[in-house]
Amino acid sequence: MAANHKRTHSKERIEREKEQAAQYVAARIPDHIVLGLGSGTTAAYFVQAIHDRIEAEHLDIECVATSVGTQQLAEQLGMRMLDVNTIDAVDITVDGADVVDEHLDGIKGGGAALLFEKLVANMSKRNIWIVDSRKPRKSLAWQMLPVEVIPFGGMGVFRYLRDHGYHPAFRFQDNGDILATDSGNYLIDITIPKGADLPALAANLKKQTGVVEHGLFLNVCDELVVGGDEVQVTKRH
Ligand code: 5RP
Repeated sequence: MAANHKRTHSKERIEREKEQAAQYVAARIPDHIVLGLGSGTTAAYFVQAIHDRIEAEHLDIECVATSVGTQQLAEQLGMRMLDVNTIDAVDITVDGADVVDEHLDGIKGGGAALLFEKLVANMSKRNIWIVDSRKPRKSLAWQMLPVEVIPFGGMGVFRYLRDHGYHPAFRFQDNGDILATDSGNYLIDITIPKGADLPALAANLKKQTGVVEHGLFLNVCDELVVGGDEVQVTKRH
């Protein structure tokens, strides 16, 4: 009973931290910009928070979504959405992350949206990540890294990853069906070995025929915001 109570409390604390980070950033977004909306539960708190501010202060902010789920949420809220193919750049993107190391390099794709997230991040002049206190780590060693592959020939990529010691596993939904991303691709989750050269790993994954993208986001995050009673902000130097 006591253990259950503790678990509930800590889950609530994590949700509060996500919301604290989201609200901290939403309160500081400038007016008259194109804003990238990330994906996942933390990003969803941000979408709600920036929506509320846009409404309350009549801000002139247009948005681009990084997943079908975020697009639907923003449309339900009545936010002004742009088609990513109609713009050259995004001013600021606010997104979550699965893990972030001390250099602000991180892994994304736990929510399967890494491809659209990386496309929008690469178009963004500034990328802000909002996370709870479980996400910052010293390094990305032993972390799970999603690799998005086209369904045709995905087994070939799987075999390559298995034979090179990355312990791959296709990602499945709770109902047992293989998970398909918003682009209809599959995800293979691998484990980053200890001491891995991350830029070399990223380049090598991209080189494999059938790999569409991977969840390593190197030199992308400009500012990390960790929720808490005192929000922690770290900026890339
Ligand atoms: C989705 C992502 C998410 O941003 C990441 O998984 C974090 O999600 P959450 O805020 O729910 O923990 O990369 O592809």
